[in-house]
Amino acid sequence: MTVLSRFSNKVVIVTGGGSGIGQAVVRRVVSEGGIVIAIDVNETGLKAGVKQTEKIAAAGGRYSFKVGSISDEETVKKIIQEVVDQEGRLDVLINVAGILRSSKFTETSLEEFMEPITVNLVGTFLTCREAMPHLIKTKGNIVNCASTSARFGHPYMAGYSASKGGVEAMTKALSWEYMKEGVRVNAVCPGGISTPMKESQGERMGGLDQSLFAHLMRIDYTCGEPDHVAAVFAMLASADGSFMTGEIVKVDGGVHN
Ligand SMILES: NC(=O)c1ccc[n+]([C@@H]2O[C@H](COP(=O)([O-])OP(=O)(O)OC[C@H]3O[C@@H](n4cnc5c(N)ncnc54)[C@H](O)[C@@H]3O)[C@@H](O)[C@H]2O)c1
Repeated sequence: MTVLSRFSNKVVIVTGGGSGIGQAVVRRVVSEGGIVIAIDVNETGLKAGVKQTEKIAAAGGRYSFKVGSISDEETVKKIIQEVVDQEGRLDVLINVAGILRSSKFTETSLEEFMEPITVNLVGTFLTCREAMPHLIKTKGNIVNCASTSARFGHPYMAGYSASKGGVEAMTKALSWEYMKEGVRVNAVCPGGISTPMKESQGERMGGLDQSLFAHLMRIDYTCGEPDHVAAVFAMLASADGSFMTGEIVKVDGGVHN
């Protein structure tokens, strides 16, 4: 197997690096020589990353983390500035952090509707905005995390689907706005992937029409693994994606074709 070192000397922030897809992205980028700083509210998951990466670090790859919420403006400002002060630069921002909420539409409170919007969309806005001046200096890039919920609409997930639709639209807007500065902005759009978020879906769906959900989501198919998605995040974030910007790349095993 060819060992890639596409992230040698690259400083890479990964939000949501404490679980599931984000943790897989951390492992992938560290294994390819990246200097990765994971941000998450899940301190236990972030600490697990230390063990997960110690044997795979190659070509100077290393891992550290910062505990904090991407939806808190002051926290995001502080953490991104700290990363740049400590490492001297920022080359890549990979936004994976997210939450899923499910409920019948007419029974959804404003607060419940806003939760995924606040983390998935506003959080992504905040990290992109704070990282952008540093990425302009390095001609770096951003890879955001959308979802097939945005493109195809999933029942009982109005707020979540809307938040991910917003991430897609914002990704495209930023790709135009920063094209001349040489900053690429893309997104990965995962389908069903085996992670703690996916595994807790049954619990969240309690009391809802599971058969409608199963039919529309086609959840009887085999889920993908976090590593399937991490590989695409890494491709877009590396020089292999250098002629791509404003792309939303679906990774769902073809289920939504
Ligand atoms: N698993 C799937 O089937 C699937 C499908 C489509 C899209 N996605 C998206 O992929 C991304 C990763 O999801 P996952 O399946 O790995 O879920 P996960 O729950 O395993 O991981 C999400 C991580 O985000 C962190 N997080 C949540 N709120 C945060 C906040 N405010 N600040 C910082 N970190 C926060 C969590 O603590 C967790 O570690 C999410 O954006 C999700 O919407 C997942």
